[in-house]
Amino acid sequence: MGVAKMGRSARPLVGFGLLVLCFMAAMAEDEYLKYKDPKQPLGARIKDLMKRMSLEEKIGQMTQIERKVASADVMKQYFIGSVLSGGGSVPAPKASVQDWVNMVNEIQKGALSTRLGIPMIYGIDAVHGHNNVYKATIFPHNIGLGVTRDPELVKRIGAATALEVRATGIPYAFAPCIAVCRDPRWGRCYESYSEDHKIVQMMTEIIPGLQGDLPPKSRSVPFVAGKTKVAACAKHFVGDGGTVKGVDESNTVINIKDLFSIHMPAYYDSIKKGVATVMVSYSSVNGEKMHANGNLVTGFLKNKLKFRGFVISDWQGIDRITNPPHANYTYSVYAGILAGIDMIMVPENYAEYLSTLTELVKKNVIPMSRINDAVKRILRVKFAMGLFENPLADLSLANQLGSQEHRELAREAVRKSLVLLKNGKNGHYPLLPLPKKAPKILVAGTHADNLGFQCGGWTIEWQGVPGNDLTAGTTILTAVKNTVDPSTQVVFQENPDAGFVKSGGFSYAIVVVGEVAYAEMFGDSANLTIAGTGGAAINTVCGAVKCVVVVVSGRPVVIEPYVAKIDALVAAWLPGTEGQGVADVLFGDYGFSGKLARTWFKSVDQLPMNVGDRHYDPLFAFGFGLTTKPKVN
Ligand code: GLC
Repeated sequence: MGVAKMGRSARPLVGFGLLVLCFMAAMAEDEYLKYKDPKQPLGARIKDLMKRMSLEEKIGQMTQIERKVASADVMKQYFIGSVLSGGGSVPAPKASVQDWVNMVNEIQKGALSTRLGIPMIYGIDAVHGHNNVYKATIFPHNIGLGVTRDPELVKRIGAATALEVRATGIPYAFAPCIAVCRDPRWGRCYESYSEDHKIVQMMTEIIPGLQGDLPPKSRSVPFVAGKTKVAACAKHFVGDGGTVKGVDESNTVINIKDLFSIHMPAYYDSIKKGVATVMVSYSSVNGEKMHANGNLVTGFLKNKLKFRGFVISDWQGIDRITNPPHANYTYSVYAGILAGIDMIMVPENYAEYLSTLTELVKKNVIPMSRINDAVKRILRVKFAMGLFENPLADLSLANQLGSQEHRELAREAVRKSLVLLKNGKNGHYPLLPLPKKAPKILVAGTHADNLGFQCGGWTIEWQGVPGNDLTAGTTILTAVKNTVDPSTQVVFQENPDAGFVKSGGFSYAIVVVGEVAYAEMFGDSANLTIAGTGGAAINTVCGAVKCVVVVVSGRPVVIEPYVAKIDALVAAWLPGTEGQGVADVLFGDYGFSGKLARTWFKSVDQLPMNVGDRHYDPLFAFGFGLTTKPKVN
């Protein structure tokens, strides 16, 4: 019946009825939120959500804060989109999987309680296994993995790492570092797979390990294959490994051809493999801070390489645009966001960041289009990885943390990462593989019984933890004891005196020396010498008995003065918790196969010196490595 024909008395009723219908329709509309419907195409979900978001909610998505300042209330009040654990930032010392899952879920519930219920994404540096976490498997650092030249191995390591990260309820890892370290004086050189970009490109296979394989036909879109995989982060864009004298966070002085032929190629591979995020480098390129470099971040990475994930800053990365850092925070926020950074790792002064960015947008200094680009990218990653469908973690993967299977994988990686640089001297028969059966052997050196040195930086603590009370693992000394014949007496002295060695009646000695644990700028070194009493131990022991020296270090160190008196020399890099892999090869259960992925210099005065340089006069050349066959038992 048409409304016009109704009697006067009926009209209020009809009006009320229409009101009810509108209300019900509105309710039905609220009940059906397209962005929450996983059957909707990604683009439609992003578009629907974007149109519902306020400026505050959008800027909140562009904010990553440290867990120490995160609470459910803070997440709700400021619409925070991401939280991280900085190096060593844990719910409690030796926290359990349950502790981690509870913490992450507590924060997530705060994010989900906001008006639109956008889940937050929690990130952590899982750069050689889930290295912040007690009893996680700690894999060799990248410098050792580059030696293997085995992309399939590294992909398996990525998959194992993803499982251990997810076991703690975390869906995002700030890995891999795809730096091309061109000067071993850089404190982060061990985070780099190689001085040769082709090896670094090969090792980007860890990305499909971490995230899952891109489905066929889909190219260069951020992709994470569900709850056993994590979003990855190719870092640090770009040229972080090329700074002058390897000074961390400083300036990479380089011609454009070398920038694009040395430091950029692995980003092509990462994007092709669907890397979800890219982290910007603290360093500068020819004097321009990367965190303010719109040409490279927006012009090249986003527009030329078509990167469609999100770009994240480094820790206080925008603060360090100015010198001194934070000297002009308004400018830092302006420059970083306008350069194309989508998410700012603030990580603690989030109220200042939010208010500064809000004001810059309201004053139209930063256009809304830049904000929308950033938020779309962040939402694209969150939708693509299923975070809206599965925002909360459970304990279903708890048994993956430090599993025997992962430790065996790490042990395999250790074996393949070792490089045999010398084997036998003055015509003596090769010393390696060592006999398991001998009356008495000596193990010496500062690094023989030190799990913390063996793991290096980014292990439990940001700077690593010396000693043996940091996590579960096998030191090289323990590995030797596990491997030799029960009748063989193993004597350990960290720094024995000459008399002791001479009178000890030792069949041979294993001397394990190297560098202390360090991370980032704390590892910058102009002298690259063996730490502590390591040099003295080599001189004392190898002067009196046949010796194999095992170097545990984040890079080539000064070894030339000792080589003549050493019978056998092995580079073990930073092998991680599975020291058994070193003994497997020393005693011939497996052969040596590793080839240097970094040039081993004679003297630091030669640096920088990389394969292909005109003046190339190394102690051991890039690609060098002796091999041995496994002993047939
Ligand atoms: C650090 C590192 C970066 C890391 C980030 C979060 O300073 O430069 O590699 O992912 O902060 O810990």
